[in-house]
Amino acid sequence: MIKKEILLINNLEKFINSKILYSKPVVEKLIAHARKEIKQLSNQNIVPGLAVVLIGDNPASKIYVRNKHKFFLTNHCHSETFTFDLNISQDELLSFIEDLNQNNKFHGILVQLPLPNHIDSQVVINSINPSKDVDGFHSENLGKLFLGHPRFIPCTPYGIVELLDYYDIETTGKHAVIVGRSNIVGKPMVSLLSQSFKKGNATVTVCHSKTNPLRKYTLQADILIAATGVPNLITSDMINKHVNIIDVGINRVEDDSEKGYHICGDVDFKGCSGKVNSITPVPGGVGPMTIMMLLINTIKAAKNGS
Ligand code: GUN
Repeated sequence: MIKKEILLINNLEKFINSKILYSKPVVEKLIAHARKEIKQLSNQNIVPGLAVVLIGDNPASKIYVRNKHKFFLTNHCHSETFTFDLNISQDELLSFIEDLNQNNKFHGILVQLPLPNHIDSQVVINSINPSKDVDGFHSENLGKLFLGHPRFIPCTPYGIVELLDYYDIETTGKHAVIVGRSNIVGKPMVSLLSQSFKKGNATVTVCHSKTNPLRKYTLQADILIAATGVPNLITSDMINKHVNIIDVGINRVEDDSEKGYHICGDVDFKGCSGKVNSITPVPGGVGPMTIMMLLINTIKAAKNGS
């Protein structure tokens, strides 16, 4: 009898619907507004321009940079990518960025991360004119965000806020658990979710590679943000059925397929979808939001006349 009931419960679980948080309708909504702003700028002979600096030939970085470039061109903005050899010196890079700072064609400058080990990433980022730092990674811009007066919000966390907003996911008074403490996602995400911003006012827990046991915290999450770069780290035994999951991971995992790899997130989507309130897919979730917010930040820079 008990066995039968357990079977029934397990079967019922399969029919609990989870909402899939696709980025497509969110991007469509945001791009409609962005295009109006681009048109208004164009009436003043201003074309929002982005300079992307790419060092080395990291395959993932090359794909991200290509996608950003295409998105800008499709939306009648200017974009140029400057590619350098892996062994470029820090001084050469700093001097190149100084030229970009002076170049009026570029309202935004982005240095694709990660950089090779012989280069100090934060020194390079801090050499960008903060008014052109559309990534929002400059110490001054991170400081402004942490003090509650952001200039540019880092693109991935900004995109997550817009996703939460579009799908009307409540954050006020909720427990947000962030897995990953990177400067790019985890740290700015703490700031956005905990302050009294749109989609803020949450109680935030930050987990990382030394959190033990991780499951103890992820099980408590109303909103779970996974940004670790570890494929399928979050499994179905680590979540509750009310949670809203934002999967930031875009991991390339080798397999026997013709391509030789497939892309997956930090969350075991197969195991978790159907058992949660909502979840972002990979691909088609957070990734396109990041590029959208980069365009929005670059338009803002162009409007500010940077
Ligand atoms: N590498 C991974 N994500 C990002 C990002 O948002 N900006 C930059 N500059 N590099 C990245």
